[in-house]
Amino acid sequence: MTTELYDGKVILVDHPMVQHKLSILRCKETSSKQFRELVRELALFEGYEATRDLPLSPVEIETPLQKMTAYELGGKKCVIVPILRAGLGMVDGVLDLIPAARVGHLGMYRNEETHEPVPYYAKLPTDVANRIVIVVDPMLATGGSAIAAVQYLRKAGVTDTIKLMFMVAAPEGIEALLAADDNVQIYVCAVDDGLNENAYILPGLGDAGDRIFGIK
Ligand code: PRP
Ligand code: URA
Repeated sequence: MTTELYDGKVILVDHPMVQHKLSILRCKETSSKQFRELVRELALFEGYEATRDLPLSPVEIETPLQKMTAYELGGKKCVIVPILRAGLGMVDGVLDLIPAARVGHLGMYRNEETHEPVPYYAKLPTDVANRIVIVVDPMLATGGSAIAAVQYLRKAGVTDTIKLMFMVAAPEGIEALLAADDNVQIYVCAVDDGLNENAYILPGLGDAGDRIFGIK
């Protein structure tokens, strides 16, 4: 169950199970252990929608009763690219769905004053340009981090549509990301009201990285 927003550039995953789990994720009483489990589960559900258009190829197989033409994933292989730190929480959920996917990493944190992303690490598969790229990060706030990730991937040679999965997005971040690169497909579990003066999403869920790793 999904709803298309922003002329189909944004897919809102509004399945009741996703919305139920997202509400628990948002609650301030939710423990880090439960938060991590929920982020992983939600990433799997979201990944199910993000992989809906993957091409299939026919394959001849034999069941215990007869031969048949079945279907298997064909075409380009996938790479999951978490934006560190918080994106790491979504990787295992997507890997549950696509176990053969490669994982690249883009490390960046937001400067607390300017809210601009500060990159500190990047490691992508050498054949990233020939793969379907799925960027994962629980939060899309100003859009700065996601835009930096997309720009890095473009410089690395990725020309296809880049898929990006977030749990919670602010309208400001969606608009900035779509303005920066129109060849992206965004998946979200919620579009929230907007940003506060510290560029945190309202109502949001707080600092996703801190909650995943339990450091506050
Ligand atoms: C958070 C979040 C995104 C970014 C979103 O990471 O995980 O990467 O902020 O904000 P933006 O859209 O305004 O760029 P943060 O920079 O706090 O780093 P962390 O994951 O290490 O906590
Ligand atoms: N990063 C987060 O973790 N949460 C927000 O609300 C904004 C940026």
